[in-house]
Amino acid sequence: MKKQEELNLIKKNYEKCQKCPLAKLGRTQVVFGKGNSNAKLMFIGEGPGRDEDLQGSPFIGRAGQLLTKMIEAMGLKREDVYISNVVKCRPPNNRTPLPDESIICKKEILAKEIALIGPQIICCLGSSATKALLGDEIKITQIRGQFFELNGIKIMPTFHPAYLLRNPNAKRPVWQDLQKIIANLK
Ligand code: URA
Repeated sequence: MKKQEELNLIKKNYEKCQKCPLAKLGRTQVVFGKGNSNAKLMFIGEGPGRDEDLQGSPFIGRAGQLLTKMIEAMGLKREDVYISNVVKCRPPNNRTPLPDESIICKKEILAKEIALIGPQIICCLGSSATKALLGDEIKITQIRGQFFELNGIKIMPTFHPAYLLRNPNAKRPVWQDLQKIIANLK
């Protein structure tokens, strides 16, 4: 089976997912990852916000538009990469996903997306994604901008685009992190 068909199958299997509390906390729909199933680079955010919940695609609101600009500044297009989130259902009032919700959704969906796509590099956007991949103790401010290794995949934690919208001064370090990613893509 082709990778895209396998991703479609995962999507179908989980479109009515009830595995974690977020299923009953007001989601409109399950928002799956989207993009190139053969991507060398994958971005992982936290979870769908209001726009994503309503429209069914990841990163399409204000933070998503900034992410698109970041990808284009890297000389890539959204269609070249794969974009996903730790949790696939919108947490109420955009609160941070709870550890249990992240653990369940990572095991059920995110880990399968990563295994199927097999990217060279994963860019973790913000604290939730970084904790989900590298462990709950990490502090994004201390470890961003460095590569970590996980099952042969290079992991680059950086700040979330929503954080950049509130703190434009953080755009410079994030751009440095993105340049490290470009330099390491083969
Ligand atoms: N923020 C995220 O972390 N993910 C989205 O899909 C949108 C906003």
